[in-house]
Amino acid sequence: EKGTYPHYMLKEIDEQPLVMRKIIQKYQNDNGELTIDQEIITAMNEADRIYIIAAGTSYHAGLVGKQFIEKLAKIPVEVHISSEFGYNMPMLSEKPLFIFITQSGETADSRAVLVQVKEMGYKAITITNVQGSTLSREADYTLLLHAGPEIAVASTKAYTAQLAVLVILAEVTAKSRGMEPNFNLVRELGIIANAMEVLCDEKEEFESIAREFLTVTRNAFFIGRGIDFYVGLEGALKLKEISYIQAEGFAGGELKHGTIALIEEGTPVIAIATQEIVNLGIRGNVKEVVARGANPCIISMKGLEFEGDTFIIPEVHELLTPLVSVLPLQLISYYAALHRDCDVDKPRNLAKSVTVE
Ligand code: M6R
Repeated sequence: EKGTYPHYMLKEIDEQPLVMRKIIQKYQNDNGELTIDQEIITAMNEADRIYIIAAGTSYHAGLVGKQFIEKLAKIPVEVHISSEFGYNMPMLSEKPLFIFITQSGETADSRAVLVQVKEMGYKAITITNVQGSTLSREADYTLLLHAGPEIAVASTKAYTAQLAVLVILAEVTAKSRGMEPNFNLVRELGIIANAMEVLCDEKEEFESIAREFLTVTRNAFFIGRGIDFYVGLEGALKLKEISYIQAEGFAGGELKHGTIALIEEGTPVIAIATQEIVNLGIRGNVKEVVARGANPCIISMKGLEFEGDTFIIPEVHELLTPLVSVLPLQLISYYAALHRDCDVDKPRNLAKSVTVE
């Protein structure tokens, strides 16, 4: 039930801090340590390469998940769009392990890949929000998101839950390999939950950003570098699916290779700038688009911000910023859709779970 909320999407955005705390609790053992079923950790350690398969928002979570697993557990990862896997099947390693990320557990494109790789005799983990769903039943192992039912077509809390479960999987695997802890993850996820709460309390700010940047535009661009680039892809998908604004997310460095030709007077460019190593690079890109008339909206992180930035998220661990920087994008999309009189929870032409290939 959406209670006093006008839309499920807004309710589900607001639930994210609670979901974070629930995930911490569900994945903690009696000693307060994060744990994952030993069988799953063994499968991770036996693999020489991990193949993440997913669609839409879950694919975007996979792109960030690759960074978590490679940086923390040091296992190579490839991320594939499920509908493409059959045609563009990568050369598989000797001991592949498949991870399917799917909120609903019913996405036909992803299921087709699962059927195929099971036939080939490989092991698969499904990360899903729905216990007993098709992909959960047909995989060898399941990791649950514990996000509660997600009703709005636009995925919000499932995305951040997917990231949280992926980072827990990565860190627990790292620990099992005798690696030094990269951070106190329980603490860091708690900090994330608090930061999410701060952002959920700033809705008016996002409403006015949406009004200023997106009420009367035909298109919008999301740019980022490094992990911020992946968050930009998710921001663009969110905006286009519920507000019908043509939106594109791309790597800041790619601007000069084509997309900059589309920038004209007033084009909204939303830059995500939460990573120290690319901070100057992305700001250089903002200058380039502003020089061509773009209307810039810069989402940066405390400690890395410059004067004139549009919105500054609270400071969180640098690897984990996508869990937080996506909230402004979700809220901006929500208000853009609202201002444009769109059906936020049930956008045209879309279904919550896509059960046909
Ligand atoms: O249930 P799944 O995670 O497998 O769904 C995948 C996509 O259909 C889904 O993420 C879709 O892109 C959302 N509507 C995005 O908000």
